[in-house]
Amino acid sequence: MARSKTSAAWLKEHVDDVWVQKAQKDGYRSRATYKLAEIDDKDRLFRPGMTVIDLGSAPGGWSQLLSERLGSEGKILASDILPMDAIPDVEFIQGDFTEDAILELLLESMQGKQADLVISDMAPNLSGMNAIDQPKAMYLVELALDLAEQVLKPGGDLLAKVFQGEGYEDYLKLLRSRFTKVLTRKPVASRARSREVYLLARGYKG
Ligand SMILES: C[S@@+](CC[C@H](N)C(=O)[O-])C[C@H]1O[C@@H](n2cnc3c(N)ncnc32)[C@H](O)[C@@H]1O
Repeated sequence: MARSKTSAAWLKEHVDDVWVQKAQKDGYRSRATYKLAEIDDKDRLFRPGMTVIDLGSAPGGWSQLLSERLGSEGKILASDILPMDAIPDVEFIQGDFTEDAILELLLESMQGKQADLVISDMAPNLSGMNAIDQPKAMYLVELALDLAEQVLKPGGDLLAKVFQGEGYEDYLKLLRSRFTKVLTRKPVASRARSREVYLLARGYKG
């Protein structure tokens, strides 16, 4: 019994490593790229010339995919509390998204333009204590929705990483009230043991 558990754990870690190795081989900065690629392949998120905001963008795997798939006609605005090396066609603002000053900088950089899509892969540094981590994670996705409501065009989409737990159901309800439909996605590159899921809210009601 113990042996088979160990083997299962080994297999899981090995599969995780495979994603990391694949990212290195393909020149992507993170395994997260494959999560977004899978969601786009299934749900057709991207169109050339779109305006997209990428929250929690470092080290830059999602922004790399945006840059590849959107072409240079659109606008890609990325932000993270950590620094991020430059990516073609991606404008980057470094700062803590929980601070008003960063929200203001992002809005300024939009120059009154509305966004087609807001994506958030933000996650707090995990302490391992759910009672601390879950509210922090929920706060970040609430702020992402707040920004989405300020910048999205009617009909626009929001994709946000959310952790299942306290506050999740309320957040889902909130999204359902603001968007035409809300889909739940768990891409294969997302660790099975992680409580993270991606909520894709489509058709902002404005
Ligand atoms: C899972 S990583 C994002 C990976 C990224 N999507 C990629 O493809 O490379 C989560 C990011 O959220 C960022 N983050 C966490 N709290 C933040 C905050 N308060 N403001 C801005 N970014 C934050 C972290 O610094 C981290 O880079």
